[in-house]
Amino acid sequence: PVEIRISAPGKVILHGEHAVVYGKAAIAATLNLRSHLTLKTRLDSMIQLELPDVNINEEFSVAALQEGLQSIDCGSVHDPIPASEEVISLIKKFAGIDIENNETRMLAIVAFLFIYYGIFKEKRELPAISVYIKSDLPVGAGLGSSAAFSVSLAAAILQFAGYIDSIKEAEGASTWSTSDKRKINNWAFLGEKVIHGRPSGIDNSISTYGGALRMQNGEITQLDKMPTLSVLLVNTKVPRSTMTLVAGVRQKYNLYPDVMEPIINAVEAITKRTEDLFKFSADTMSPDDVKTLGDLIDLNQNLLNAMGVGHPTLDRIVAAAKKHGFYSKLTGAGGGGCAFVLIPPDTSDSHLQYFNQDLNDQGFDVRWKTTVGGQ
Ligand code: MEV
Repeated sequence: PVEIRISAPGKVILHGEHAVVYGKAAIAATLNLRSHLTLKTRLDSMIQLELPDVNINEEFSVAALQEGLQSIDCGSVHDPIPASEEVISLIKKFAGIDIENNETRMLAIVAFLFIYYGIFKEKRELPAISVYIKSDLPVGAGLGSSAAFSVSLAAAILQFAGYIDSIKEAEGASTWSTSDKRKINNWAFLGEKVIHGRPSGIDNSISTYGGALRMQNGEITQLDKMPTLSVLLVNTKVPRSTMTLVAGVRQKYNLYPDVMEPIINAVEAITKRTEDLFKFSADTMSPDDVKTLGDLIDLNQNLLNAMGVGHPTLDRIVAAAKKHGFYSKLTGAGGGGCAFVLIPPDTSDSHLQYFNQDLNDQGFDVRWKTTVGGQ
Protein backbone atom coordinates (compact mmCIF):
# COMPACT_ATOMS: atom_id res chain seq x y z
CA PRO A 1 0.00 0.00 0.00
CA VAL A 2 1.08 3.54 -0.76
CA GLU A 3 1.07 6.21 1.91
CA ILE A 4 1.65 9.93 1.33
CA ARG A 5 2.01 12.45 4.11
CA ILE A 6 1.78 16.15 3.47
CA SER A 7 1.35 19.25 5.58
CA ALA A 8 0.43 22.83 4.69
CA PRO A 9 0.49 25.94 6.87
CA GLY A 10 -2.18 28.40 7.93
CA LYS A 11 -1.70 32.13 7.67
CA VAL A 12 -2.21 35.54 9.14
CA ILE A 13 -3.34 38.34 6.84
CA LEU A 14 -1.65 41.46 8.19
CA HIS A 15 -3.50 43.88 5.98
CA GLY A 16 -5.73 43.81 2.92
CA GLU A 17 -8.37 41.18 3.68
CA HIS A 18 -11.54 41.91 1.70
CA ALA A 19 -9.81 44.74 -0.23
CA VAL A 20 -7.79 42.00 -1.99
CA VAL A 21 -11.03 40.66 -3.46
CA TYR A 22 -11.28 44.02 -5.34
CA GLY A 23 -7.79 43.84 -6.81
CA LYS A 24 -6.09 45.76 -4.00
CA ALA A 25 -2.82 44.66 -2.44
CA ALA A 26 -2.79 42.44 0.66
CA ILE A 27 0.07 41.06 2.72
CA ALA A 28 0.06 37.73 4.51
CA ALA A 29 2.53 35.49 6.29
CA THR A 30 2.46 31.81 7.20
CA LEU A 31 1.83 30.57 10.69
CA ASN A 32 3.56 27.67 12.38
CA LEU A 33 0.20 25.93 12.73
CA ARG A 34 -0.44 23.39 9.99
CA SER A 35 -2.88 20.97 8.45
CA HIS A 36 -1.53 17.37 8.30
CA LEU A 37 -2.77 14.99 5.64
CA THR A 38 -2.28 11.25 5.21
CA LEU A 39 -3.36 9.60 1.97
CA LYS A 40 -3.43 5.79 1.86
CA THR A 41 -4.40 3.37 -0.85
CA ARG A 42 -7.20 0.95 -0.01
CA LEU A 43 -7.81 -2.64 -1.00
CA ASP A 44 -11.56 -2.27 -1.42
CA SER A 45 -13.16 0.01 -4.01
CA MET A 46 -14.11 2.94 -1.82
CA ILE A 47 -12.80 6.43 -1.31
CA GLN A 48 -12.93 7.94 2.13
CA LEU A 49 -12.54 11.47 3.52
CA GLU A 50 -11.99 11.78 7.23
CA LEU A 51 -11.80 15.22 8.86
CA PRO A 52 -12.06 14.64 12.61
CA ASP A 53 -11.85 18.39 13.36
CA VAL A 54 -15.24 18.95 11.74
CA ASN A 55 -16.75 15.57 12.41
CA ILE A 56 -16.65 14.31 8.86
CA ASN A 57 -16.08 10.74 7.86
CA GLU A 58 -17.57 9.94 4.45
CA GLU A 59 -17.15 6.99 2.17
CA PHE A 60 -18.14 6.75 -1.48
CA SER A 61 -17.96 3.85 -3.87
CA VAL A 62 -15.56 4.48 -6.75
CA ALA A 63 -17.98 2.95 -9.25
CA ALA A 64 -20.85 5.16 -8.09
CA LEU A 65 -18.59 8.20 -8.29
CA GLN A 66 -17.41 7.31 -11.80
CA GLU A 67 -21.00 7.03 -12.91
CA GLY A 68 -22.37 9.98 -10.90
CA LEU A 69 -19.74 12.52 -11.88
CA GLN A 70 -18.98 11.49 -15.45
CA SER A 71 -20.79 14.46 -16.96
CA ILE A 72 -18.86 17.11 -15.03
CA ASP A 73 -16.26 19.18 -16.81
CA CYS A 74 -13.16 20.06 -14.81
CA GLY A 75 -10.93 20.95 -17.77
CA SER A 76 -7.59 19.17 -17.77
CA VAL A 77 -5.12 18.53 -14.96
CA HIS A 78 -2.81 21.24 -16.31
CA ASP A 79 -5.57 23.65 -17.20
CA PRO A 80 -8.43 23.03 -14.80
CA ILE A 81 -11.66 25.01 -14.88
CA PRO A 82 -13.56 26.08 -11.75
CA ALA A 83 -16.61 24.15 -10.65
CA SER A 84 -19.73 25.90 -11.95
CA GLU A 85 -22.91 26.15 -9.88
CA GLU A 86 -24.28 23.19 -11.83
CA VAL A 87 -21.20 21.09 -11.14
CA ILE A 88 -21.37 21.93 -7.43
CA SER A 89 -25.06 21.00 -7.37
CA LEU A 90 -24.37 17.74 -9.15
CA ILE A 91 -21.60 16.79 -6.71
CA LYS A 92 -23.81 17.74 -3.76
CA LYS A 93 -26.54 15.54 -5.15
CA PHE A 94 -24.11 12.67 -5.59
CA ALA A 95 -22.80 13.10 -2.03
CA GLY A 96 -26.30 13.36 -0.56
CA ILE A 97 -25.80 17.00 0.50
CA ASP A 98 -28.78 19.34 0.34
CA ILE A 99 -28.35 21.82 -2.56
CA GLU A 100 -29.03 24.73 -0.18
CA ASN A 101 -26.47 23.54 2.36
CA ASN A 102 -23.44 25.80 2.17
CA GLU A 103 -21.83 24.86 5.46
CA THR A 104 -18.07 24.98 5.05
CA ARG A 105 -17.65 21.42 6.32
CA MET A 106 -20.10 20.13 3.71
CA LEU A 107 -18.48 22.15 0.96
CA ALA A 108 -15.15 20.58 1.99
CA ILE A 109 -16.60 17.23 0.89
CA VAL A 110 -17.65 18.76 -2.44
CA ALA A 111 -14.17 20.27 -2.90
CA PHE A 112 -12.60 16.90 -2.11
CA LEU A 113 -14.72 15.09 -4.70
CA PHE A 114 -14.10 17.80 -7.30
CA ILE A 115 -10.32 17.74 -6.81
CA TYR A 116 -10.18 13.94 -6.67
CA TYR A 117 -12.30 13.45 -9.77
CA GLY A 118 -10.79 16.38 -11.69
CA ILE A 119 -7.24 15.12 -11.24
CA PHE A 120 -7.88 11.42 -11.73
CA LYS A 121 -10.39 11.57 -14.55
CA GLU A 122 -7.65 11.66 -17.21
CA LYS A 123 -6.33 8.37 -15.85
CA ARG A 124 -8.12 5.20 -16.84
CA GLU A 125 -9.07 4.24 -13.30
CA LEU A 126 -10.13 6.08 -10.19
CA PRO A 127 -8.07 4.73 -7.29
CA ALA A 128 -9.47 3.60 -3.94
CA ILE A 129 -7.92 5.86 -1.31
CA SER A 130 -8.44 7.17 2.21
CA VAL A 131 -7.64 10.77 3.01
CA TYR A 132 -7.27 11.76 6.64
CA ILE A 133 -6.65 15.39 7.59
CA LYS A 134 -6.04 16.71 11.08
CA SER A 135 -5.28 20.36 11.67
CA ASP A 136 -3.40 22.34 14.32
CA LEU A 137 -5.47 25.30 13.13
CA PRO A 138 -8.76 26.33 14.67
CA VAL A 139 -11.39 25.71 11.99
CA GLY A 140 -13.21 28.63 10.38
CA ALA A 141 -11.39 31.19 12.49
CA GLY A 142 -9.64 33.25 9.80
CA LEU A 143 -6.30 31.46 10.01
CA GLY A 144 -6.60 29.68 6.68
CA SER A 145 -7.70 26.23 7.83
CA SER A 146 -9.70 25.66 4.65
CA ALA A 147 -6.82 26.79 2.43
CA ALA A 148 -4.42 24.47 4.28
CA PHE A 149 -7.00 21.72 3.67
CA SER A 150 -7.27 22.52 -0.06
CA VAL A 151 -3.50 22.83 -0.50
CA SER A 152 -2.61 19.61 1.30
CA LEU A 153 -5.38 17.79 -0.59
CA ALA A 154 -4.39 19.11 -4.03
CA ALA A 155 -0.72 18.32 -3.34
CA ALA A 156 -1.41 14.78 -2.13
CA ILE A 157 -3.68 13.90 -5.03
CA LEU A 158 -1.42 15.48 -7.67
CA GLN A 159 1.50 13.58 -6.21
CA PHE A 160 -0.35 10.28 -5.98
CA ALA A 161 -1.48 10.70 -9.61
CA GLY A 162 2.12 11.39 -10.65
CA TYR A 163 1.61 14.99 -11.82
CA ILE A 164 4.11 16.51 -9.39
CA ASP A 165 7.37 15.24 -7.95
CA SER A 166 7.53 13.67 -4.54
CA ILE A 167 7.67 16.18 -1.81
CA LYS A 168 10.69 16.69 0.31
CA GLU A 169 9.85 17.05 3.97
CA ALA A 170 12.18 19.64 5.47
CA GLU A 171 11.74 20.40 9.16
CA GLY A 172 8.20 19.06 9.08
CA ALA A 173 7.22 21.26 6.13
CA SER A 174 6.47 20.06 2.61
CA THR A 175 8.42 21.66 -0.23
CA TRP A 176 8.04 21.45 -3.99
CA SER A 177 9.57 22.96 -7.11
CA THR A 178 8.12 26.26 -8.30
CA SER A 179 6.29 24.66 -11.22
CA ASP A 180 4.83 21.98 -8.95
CA LYS A 181 3.71 24.70 -6.54
CA ARG A 182 1.92 26.43 -9.39
CA LYS A 183 -0.04 23.23 -10.15
CA ILE A 184 -0.87 22.70 -6.47
CA ASN A 185 -1.96 26.31 -6.07
CA ASN A 186 -4.22 26.15 -9.16
CA TRP A 187 -6.08 23.11 -7.88
CA ALA A 188 -6.19 24.36 -4.30
CA PHE A 189 -7.72 27.62 -5.57
CA LEU A 190 -10.50 25.62 -7.24
CA GLY A 191 -11.12 23.88 -3.91
CA GLU A 192 -11.26 27.26 -2.19
CA LYS A 193 -13.73 28.51 -4.80
CA VAL A 194 -16.02 25.57 -4.06
CA ILE A 195 -15.76 26.30 -0.32
CA HIS A 196 -15.89 30.12 -0.32
CA GLY A 197 -17.58 31.24 -3.52
CA ARG A 198 -15.44 34.06 -4.89
CA PRO A 199 -12.20 34.14 -2.89
CA SER A 200 -9.19 36.14 -4.01
CA GLY A 201 -6.78 33.22 -3.78
CA ILE A 202 -4.54 34.78 -1.15
CA ASP A 203 -5.16 32.03 1.43
CA ASN A 204 -4.21 29.12 -0.84
CA SER A 205 -1.28 31.08 -2.27
CA ILE A 206 0.31 31.80 1.09
CA SER A 207 -0.29 28.21 2.18
CA THR A 208 1.34 26.90 -1.02
CA TYR A 209 4.26 29.30 -1.36
CA GLY A 210 4.98 29.94 2.33
CA GLY A 211 6.99 32.78 3.86
CA ALA A 212 5.46 36.20 3.55
CA LEU A 213 3.85 37.49 0.40
CA ARG A 214 1.90 40.24 -1.21
CA MET A 215 -0.94 39.59 -3.54
CA GLN A 216 -2.59 41.96 -5.95
CA ASN A 217 -4.90 41.15 -8.85
CA GLY A 218 -4.06 37.48 -8.48
CA GLU A 219 -0.35 38.24 -8.81
CA ILE A 220 1.83 36.91 -6.03
CA THR A 221 5.18 38.31 -5.00
CA GLN A 222 7.29 37.12 -2.13
CA LEU A 223 7.97 39.97 0.31
CA ASP A 224 11.72 40.26 0.16
CA LYS A 225 11.96 41.83 3.55
CA MET A 226 9.69 41.42 6.50
CA PRO A 227 10.80 41.74 10.10
CA THR A 228 9.89 38.97 12.52
CA LEU A 229 6.72 40.04 14.30
CA SER A 230 5.50 38.59 17.53
CA VAL A 231 1.75 38.31 17.65
CA LEU A 232 -0.80 36.89 20.01
CA LEU A 233 -3.71 35.20 18.26
CA VAL A 234 -6.97 35.45 20.08
CA ASN A 235 -9.91 33.37 18.98
CA THR A 236 -13.33 34.91 19.54
CA LYS A 237 -14.79 31.44 18.95
CA VAL A 238 -17.61 33.23 17.18
CA PRO A 239 -18.38 31.05 14.14
CA ARG A 240 -18.83 32.74 10.81
CA SER A 241 -18.68 32.00 7.12
CA THR A 242 -16.11 33.56 4.81
CA MET A 243 -18.49 33.05 1.89
CA THR A 244 -21.24 35.06 3.62
CA LEU A 245 -18.88 37.82 4.76
CA VAL A 246 -17.30 38.26 1.33
CA ALA A 247 -20.78 38.29 -0.24
CA GLY A 248 -21.94 40.88 2.34
CA VAL A 249 -19.11 43.26 1.44
CA ARG A 250 -19.88 42.71 -2.24
CA GLN A 251 -23.51 43.64 -1.67
CA LYS A 252 -22.52 46.88 0.07
CA TYR A 253 -20.01 47.60 -2.68
CA ASN A 254 -22.68 47.15 -5.34
CA LEU A 255 -25.16 49.35 -3.48
CA TYR A 256 -22.73 52.10 -2.41
CA PRO A 257 -19.68 51.95 -4.66
CA ASP A 258 -18.92 55.63 -4.05
CA VAL A 259 -18.76 54.97 -0.29
CA MET A 260 -17.05 51.59 -0.36
CA GLU A 261 -14.40 52.46 -2.93
CA PRO A 262 -12.64 55.05 -0.69
CA ILE A 263 -12.73 52.62 2.27
CA ILE A 264 -11.11 49.90 0.19
CA ASN A 265 -8.57 52.38 -1.18
CA ALA A 266 -7.72 53.45 2.37
CA VAL A 267 -7.09 49.81 3.30
CA GLU A 268 -4.74 49.54 0.35
CA ALA A 269 -2.88 52.68 1.47
CA ILE A 270 -2.40 51.00 4.86
CA THR A 271 -1.04 47.88 3.20
CA LYS A 272 1.39 49.96 1.13
CA ARG A 273 2.56 51.98 4.14
CA THR A 274 3.19 48.75 6.03
CA GLU A 275 5.17 47.33 3.13
CA ASP A 276 7.29 50.51 2.99
CA LEU A 277 7.86 50.30 6.71
CA PHE A 278 9.07 46.70 6.34
CA LYS A 279 11.36 47.66 3.47
CA PHE A 280 13.19 50.23 5.51
CA SER A 281 13.10 48.71 8.98
CA ALA A 282 15.71 46.50 10.59
CA ASP A 283 14.84 42.90 11.45
CA THR A 284 13.85 44.05 14.91
CA MET A 285 11.60 47.06 14.65
CA SER A 286 12.34 50.32 16.43
CA PRO A 287 9.78 51.73 18.89
CA ASP A 288 8.84 54.37 16.28
CA ASP A 289 8.21 51.70 13.67
CA VAL A 290 6.14 49.70 16.15
CA LYS A 291 4.05 52.81 16.85
CA THR A 292 3.44 53.37 13.13
CA LEU A 293 2.61 49.71 12.59
CA GLY A 294 0.21 49.90 15.54
CA ASP A 295 -1.52 53.01 14.20
CA LEU A 296 -1.98 51.28 10.84
CA ILE A 297 -3.40 48.18 12.53
CA ASP A 298 -5.83 50.36 14.43
CA LEU A 299 -6.90 52.28 11.32
CA ASN A 300 -7.49 49.08 9.38
CA GLN A 301 -9.55 47.57 12.17
CA ASN A 302 -11.81 50.63 12.02
CA LEU A 303 -12.12 50.38 8.24
CA LEU A 304 -12.99 46.68 8.47
CA ASN A 305 -15.69 47.62 10.97
CA ALA A 306 -16.96 50.16 8.45
CA MET A 307 -17.13 47.44 5.81
CA GLY A 308 -19.40 45.50 8.14
CA VAL A 309 -17.05 42.61 8.94
CA GLY A 310 -16.41 43.45 12.59
CA HIS A 311 -17.98 41.85 15.63
CA PRO A 312 -18.59 43.08 19.21
CA THR A 313 -16.33 40.29 20.51
CA LEU A 314 -13.52 41.47 18.24
CA ASP A 315 -14.10 45.01 19.56
CA ARG A 316 -13.63 43.70 23.09
CA ILE A 317 -10.30 42.15 22.18
CA VAL A 318 -9.18 45.38 20.50
CA ALA A 319 -10.25 47.37 23.57
CA ALA A 320 -8.42 45.00 25.93
CA ALA A 321 -5.29 45.29 23.79
CA LYS A 322 -5.54 49.07 23.78
CA LYS A 323 -5.88 49.15 27.56
CA HIS A 324 -2.55 47.33 27.80
CA GLY A 325 -0.87 49.52 25.19
CA PHE A 326 -1.11 47.00 22.34
CA TYR A 327 -2.71 47.15 18.90
CA SER A 328 -5.01 44.57 17.47
CA LYS A 329 -7.13 43.85 14.43
CA LEU A 330 -9.19 41.00 13.04
CA THR A 331 -7.46 38.76 10.54
CA GLY A 332 -9.05 36.94 7.62
CA ALA A 333 -12.70 37.40 6.83
CA GLY A 334 -13.70 38.77 10.28
CA GLY A 335 -17.25 38.61 11.63
CA GLY A 336 -15.75 36.69 14.56
CA GLY A 337 -12.83 34.34 14.03
CA CYS A 338 -9.42 35.48 15.22
CA ALA A 339 -7.79 38.79 16.01
CA PHE A 340 -4.05 39.27 16.24
CA VAL A 341 -2.38 41.51 18.77
CA LEU A 342 1.00 42.94 17.87
CA ILE A 343 3.47 42.33 20.70
CA PRO A 344 6.34 44.85 20.51
CA PRO A 345 9.83 43.33 20.91
CA ASP A 346 10.51 45.14 24.19
CA THR A 347 7.38 43.80 25.93
CA SER A 348 8.25 42.30 29.32
CA ASP A 349 7.05 38.84 30.26
CA SER A 350 5.12 40.22 33.21
CA HIS A 351 3.32 42.74 30.99
CA LEU A 352 2.32 39.98 28.59
CA GLN A 353 1.28 37.79 31.49
CA TYR A 354 -0.94 40.55 32.82
CA PHE A 355 -2.54 41.00 29.39
CA ASN A 356 -3.04 37.24 29.09
CA GLN A 357 -4.75 37.21 32.43
CA ASP A 358 -7.07 40.01 31.38
CA LEU A 359 -8.05 38.11 28.22
CA ASN A 360 -8.53 34.98 30.29
CA ASP A 361 -10.78 36.79 32.71
CA GLN A 362 -12.90 37.89 29.75
CA GLY A 363 -13.30 34.30 28.62
CA PHE A 364 -10.88 34.33 25.70
CA ASP A 365 -9.04 31.17 26.54
CA VAL A 366 -7.80 30.04 23.15
CA ARG A 367 -4.70 31.79 21.92
CA TRP A 368 -1.27 31.26 20.52
CA LYS A 369 1.78 33.41 20.81
CA THR A 370 3.53 33.08 17.55
CA THR A 371 5.91 34.80 15.20
CA VAL A 372 5.14 35.71 11.62
CA GLY A 373 7.45 36.88 8.87
CA GLY A 374 11.18 36.94 9.21
CA GLN A 375 13.53 35.58 6.55
C1 MEV B 1 -9.97 35.51 3.89
O1 MEV B 1 -8.87 34.91 4.57
C2 MEV B 1 -9.52 36.72 3.14
C3 MEV B 1 -10.61 37.50 2.41
O2 MEV B 1 -9.98 38.64 1.83
C4 MEV B 1 -11.28 36.68 1.35
C5 MEV B 1 -10.39 36.41 0.16
O3 MEV B 1 -9.37 37.11 -0.03
O4 MEV B 1 -10.73 35.52 -0.59
C6 MEV B 1 -11.68 38.00 3.36
